[in-house]
Amino acid sequence: MTRKACFLVPFISQGHAALFLDAYGGRVHLSCARLVELPAERSHHCFIARETGEEMAIDSSALPLDHALNVLGVLTFLWLFVKIALVVGWVMRVYVLSEKWRGVDLASYGPWAVVTGSTSGIGKAYAHELARRGFDVVLISRSMEKLKQVAAEIEQQHGRSTKVIQTDFTGGSEIYEPIRAALQGLEIGVLVNNVGMVANQLVPFLSVTNVDKYTNDAVNCNMLSTVKMTQIILPQMVARKKGIIINFASFGGARPWPFNLMYGATKTFVDFFSQGLDIEYGSKGIIVQSVLPLYVATGMTAVIDKRFTVSSESFVRQALNTVGLSDRVTGCLSHAVQKLAIELVFPVWLHLFVAGTTLFEKYVGKVF
Ligand SMILES: NC(=O)c1ccc[n+]([C@@H]2O[C@H](COP(=O)([O-])OP(=O)(O)OC[C@H]3O[C@@H](n4cnc5c(N)ncnc54)[C@H](OP(=O)(O)O)[C@@H]3O)[C@@H](O)[C@H]2O)c1
Repeated sequence: MTRKACFLVPFISQGHAALFLDAYGGRVHLSCARLVELPAERSHHCFIARETGEEMAIDSSALPLDHALNVLGVLTFLWLFVKIALVVGWVMRVYVLSEKWRGVDLASYGPWAVVTGSTSGIGKAYAHELARRGFDVVLISRSMEKLKQVAAEIEQQHGRSTKVIQTDFTGGSEIYEPIRAALQGLEIGVLVNNVGMVANQLVPFLSVTNVDKYTNDAVNCNMLSTVKMTQIILPQMVARKKGIIINFASFGGARPWPFNLMYGATKTFVDFFSQGLDIEYGSKGIIVQSVLPLYVATGMTAVIDKRFTVSSESFVRQALNTVGLSDRVTGCLSHAVQKLAIELVFPVWLHLFVAGTTLFEKYVGKVF
């Protein structure tokens, strides 16, 4: 091995890790240089290779590069440190400290809350939690029987008033005039656009059962409902210069989901719509929050192993605490941690690569 043509490229700093390039052999080794063992005046000119114990000269022509890379290494380290500190600080503030130190006083936004898809799962939990925090609640779903039951529970358990509206959000724009009429005169502080549907199949786009109906239903229920309900309620919020709109996207919309395409794509729309709306109306006193949960234990995720889910009650309690602190959240602490871990070990390119192989069908496909 030649010493002439070798030079040292510090990774973090010269005393710690070094990338050792053997130019003659054309090979690159990562090794640790133990400069601390050398007298100070010599440590700038040579180092001891860890593997061999040999004292090796640093090619002086490489020193400017060495210095520049030193600086780059330190800056990289600082950048990573600050980034990690900010993420940890943000997670603590939004999901942990918010239990006691809320972003906003929800009740000050108006006496009524409207929740779509509110007879089970996450929507029902929002209706209960908002009532517990002092709101009267408008419940909107398909089944009148379930609506009356949830309304009765809320009145009994929290002593708040309720109003129910029966509708099927897979319908087109014609279903919204009766909703507008039913909400007339109510001072609405919070709108939760929660209703959503998914095809319980992991199959390519055209293979979804009754694909024509499914695509219409998914677009109307997941996307149009969010837009139209916002259109109905936002004007009175703007007039009062306060209001909160919580829109349900999904982590499934944070990246493409082959084999569950329509769901992910409709949720991406909700996420982008929410982020843009928050910018447009933020200065008018309106908070728009996009929620992108992972798995919450509801009817929609009945087939998912319970170890991977959080209860809808715990999820909603935490998610409501984040309002006013962040306009884009997973909703709860465990989902925030899971999201960070997934993004780290399973980036989008790898996700799409796996989805394009039989591995996906073999392992992930079995979940549904
Ligand atoms: N659960 C999760 O892990 C998860 C993860 C990410 C995102 N999300 C999103 O969170 C939201 C709530 O999910 P969830 O799990 O709570 O769902 P869910 O358990 O299936 O509950 C859906 C609710 O919406 C109502 N609903 C369904 N279709 C409707 C329609 N066409 N018209 C009117 N109401 C309808 C249902 O009541 P009726 O049957 O009485 O109409 C029910 O109250 C959805 O937008 C979903 O995409 C959920």
